Amino acid sequence: MSGFFITFEGTEGCGKSTHIKKLAARLETEGHTVHTLREPGGTDCGEPIRQLLKHGPDSLTAETELLLMNASRAQLVREVIRPALESGEIVLCDRFYDSTTVYQGIGRGLNLEEVQRVIDFAVGDTRPNLTLLLQVPLETSEERLARRMGTDRFEQADRAFFERVERGYRNLAQKYPERIHPIDADLSIEAVETKIWEIVSNTLNTAE
Ligand code: TMP
Repeated sequence: MSGFFITFEGTEGCGKSTHIKKLAARLETEGHTVHTLREPGGTDCGEPIRQLLKHGPDSLTAETELLLMNASRAQLVREVIRPALESGEIVLCDRFYDSTTVYQGIGRGLNLEEVQRVIDFAVGDTRPNLTLLLQVPLETSEERLARRMGTDRFEQADRAFFERVERGYRNLAQKYPERIHPIDADLSIEAVETKIWEIVSNTLNTAE
């Protein structure tokens, strides 16, 4: 039996964590075994890498960022994601390689073909079956960030960076319409939850 791999993507403050928890709970009540993860991090090797990426020195270059993201990912894929999928579980991951494409590729301006090669090396054939892209206007994202305690290296980036990230996500969704489902996450929590469930249950039923 092979499992099912769902990733969540979006800009800062788009509500990913809230909706991942809600989806995990609903899937569990439907009898599925669910494994919830986040990137970067999620393993003993990956958590210190996460700390370095989020709170490391300003001198950390875009190239180093790309490699560290994918070092953490390579470990997570082999140590956690593949075994969970092999035992038939549903894996929910808060960010995966689309984040690298838009943040390091389009946001930081690294060469997209090189970024793709690094991603391919890190993940091999472990690819999400479904990606939910939670979209909120930049203003909503900024308001939610302003209410958070402290910021990390990414949250300190300027508006132009987040505009590139947002545009990058929109373009990716157009490029991979079968896999990436954009969701208007500026609606009420209940409305977003309903939409997510509609997409996930349809996709799971089709896959069965
Ligand atoms: P978060 O877990 O609070 O969303 O923080 C993770 C940050 O790392 C977020 O700002 C997006 C960024 N990130 C990348 O730049 N590239 C990646 O590949 C991943 C997974 C995250």
